[in-house]
Amino acid sequence: MKIAHISDIHVYNKKTAAAFAGLVSRALSLGTDHFVISGDLVNSGTDDEYRLLVSVLKDFDIYNSRMLSVIPGNHDLFTTVFGKVLSTDDLMKNKSLIPSLLSDILRYSLNDYIRDLEKFNDYLHPAFEGSFCAGESFYGYPHAKILSGKVAVICIDSNMPLGIRNNLFASNGHINLHRVENLLSDPRLAGKTIIPVIHHCLYPMGEFKRRHDLIFEKSMILHNRDQVTGFFENHGIRLVLHGHYHVHERYTAGSEGMVVLNSGRGYAGDWHLIDTGSDDFEITSLRG
Ligand SMILES: [Fe+2]
Ligand SMILES: [Fe+2]
Repeated sequence: MKIAHISDIHVYNKKTAAAFAGLVSRALSLGTDHFVISGDLVNSGTDDEYRLLVSVLKDFDIYNSRMLSVIPGNHDLFTTVFGKVLSTDDLMKNKSLIPSLLSDILRYSLNDYIRDLEKFNDYLHPAFEGSFCAGESFYGYPHAKILSGKVAVICIDSNMPLGIRNNLFASNGHINLHRVENLLSDPRLAGKTIIPVIHHCLYPMGEFKRRHDLIFEKSMILHNRDQVTGFFENHGIRLVLHGHYHVHERYTAGSEGMVVLNSGRGYAGDWHLIDTGSDDFEITSLRG
C-alpha cells in the first residue's frame, strides 16, 4: 500500500487550493492508495476555506475514509487567532500582529476549542467512517483506522487548550497518552503495524533554538514530547507522521531510531510517499 503523507497545506484561497490540487494529482499519478494529512489543512477555519478544501477532495474522489485520514492542526482550531494571519508564514514573521493575537489567545476558551474541533470534524466527517475510538476519547480523538490487512493509523489531536502561559502563540501541543494507551489496547489493533499521526514535532529539546532562536523554540513545544517519544518506542512504533514546523525532512527520535516524517511544507508541494509493502517502510521524499 502506498500512503501519501501531506501536512500544512493551509488552504485559504483559490491559489492555495490549486496548489493542493496539484499535489493530490501528482500523488495519485504515482499510485497513492491513501492520503494522510497531519493538520493545518486550512489557515484559519473559515467556511470559505473549508469549502475550497472539500471541493479539491471531491474533485479527486478522495473525500472518503478509504482514501483519506486527517487530524486537526493548530490553524484548523485556534480560528479566532489565525483569522488575522492571512499567509502560511509563522507568527514570528508577523510581529506587528502579536499584541492583538495575544489578546485573542488570552480569551480563547475550552468552548471555543470544542466549537472549532466540531467544525473541523463536520467538514471532514467522510474521512472518519469506519474508524474507531476506544475507552475515553475527546470529540473523536484519538481514533484508529485499519488501512490494509496489517497497517493502521492512529489519528491523534496533539492540540490542546493549554492556556496562554503554556501556549503563547497558539502553536504548542500536548498529547493525552492515557487515551492513546486505551486505543492501542483495542483487540482490533492486535498484530497491526501502527502509524501514529500527530501535528506537533518530536525534535529534541533545543533543536529549534539552535536553528532559529529561543522564542521560536518556545512556540514549537509539544509539552510531553519526551513521554510521547518513549511511549511510542515502548509500543514498538517505527514510524511517526507530523507537520507543523514548515520544513520537509525525515529524522529519528528516541534511543532506537524511530523514524519521524515531517511533511510540513505541503503548501509548497512537498510530501512523502510511504510504501508499506515490504517489512520496512520504503519512504520517498517528493518536492514541489
Ligand atoms: Fe502549519
Ligand atoms: Fe501548525
